[in-house]
Amino acid sequence: MIRTKIAGIGMYIPGDVVSNTDLTKVMDTSDEWIQERTGIKERRYARRFEETTTTMGAEAAKIAMQRAGVTTGDIDFIIFATLTPDYYFPGCGVLAQRTLGMKEIGALDIRNQCSGFIYALSVADQFIKTGMYKNILLMASETHSYGLDFSTRGRNVTVIFGDGAGAVVLQPTNEDRGIMSTHLHSDGSEAEVLSMMNPGFHAGKFSAPNKPAVPKQPYGGLFITQELLDKDDIYPYMDGPAVFKKAVIKFPEVIMEALTTHNLQPSDLKLLIPHQANLRISQMVQQKLRLRDDQVSNNIQKYGNTTAASVPIALCEAWEMGKIKEGDLICLAAFGSGFTWGSAILRW
Ligand SMILES: CC(C)(COP(=O)(O)OP(=O)(O)OC[C@H]1O[C@@H](n2cnc3c(N)ncnc32)[C@H](O)[C@@H]1OP(=O)(O)O)[C@@H](O)C(=O)NCCC(=O)NCCS
Repeated sequence: MIRTKIAGIGMYIPGDVVSNTDLTKVMDTSDEWIQERTGIKERRYARRFEETTTTMGAEAAKIAMQRAGVTTGDIDFIIFATLTPDYYFPGCGVLAQRTLGMKEIGALDIRNQCSGFIYALSVADQFIKTGMYKNILLMASETHSYGLDFSTRGRNVTVIFGDGAGAVVLQPTNEDRGIMSTHLHSDGSEAEVLSMMNPGFHAGKFSAPNKPAVPKQPYGGLFITQELLDKDDIYPYMDGPAVFKKAVIKFPEVIMEALTTHNLQPSDLKLLIPHQANLRISQMVQQKLRLRDDQVSNNIQKYGNTTAASVPIALCEAWEMGKIKEGDLICLAAFGSGFTWGSAILRW
């Protein structure tokens, strides 16, 4: 039976460290509040005019390809997951193809926010298992810092997010290892609860809960109106408590789904790599599943929430630290805007 294995993994973390105290200089917040509610101590920001979601993804990809022992010429498909693309369109997939100087291979963009890497992994897994591709390059990258509201009004969102990228090269294997299964879910009934609706093509049909309706757009009206700018309605919106409540239910549910599919228990896991949404969410998931500290990987303290990039960054870091060895059972899980959530269970 053909399975998909992670043949190489890499990460790229931008150099600029932004501490909680740095944020107190531009908004009304405190190191104590941020650490207590989220666990975050600092995050990294990309260098404006130098780094983008695409360039950071490409840097992570170079490391992943080198570790997999492949070159750009060997890659036969690109998948790029992000919620902070360089352009509204085209997506980062083609920009990465150009940046890395790759052949005219297919490039697919995944827009599943925090679950983007898990969704992308699942798509890649199907392509590999059917024999369609032999070397898929999957990048997940984010530059939140270019689009956050740094005034006090945006503090509940802005303190959480950070920049970074992770990448993997996926290959087929006949060995008893690799991705065992992936499990994907969504519930769009609360899509706006964690969203960035503008600029968007909804033409005023939708608005976020507790926010004034967006003005209805006539044909030929501007894509971004002065009213949107005046109301600062061009930033990510989040009802934090609503996200929190749903996340602590769906994370354990989808992790258990992955485990029970293979008649496994949480105690069988070498490592759980949860999407780094909030340290309190990870801790509640750990408690619910009765996992030991050494079974859960957390690095949100250093990087904040890097949405699609958080799982591959945490996976890469755990691997670099020697916490993952061949044959180990690993579960990756994510939950985020959409809502979308998912898990992947694999033997390293
Ligand atoms: C965002 C989050 C940290 C907020 O924590 P919370 O305990 O739920 O706090 P609330 O949103 O209820 O706000 C509590 C108070 O803190 C204030 N506050 C919000 N952000 C703040 C900040 N950065 N600094 C200081 N005070 C802040 C609020 O204004 C509110 O003040 P009020 O009581 O005077 O109105 C928390 O809801 C959370 O982590 N949710 C999940 C978010 C998440 O994981 N998102 C990513 C999903 S992928």
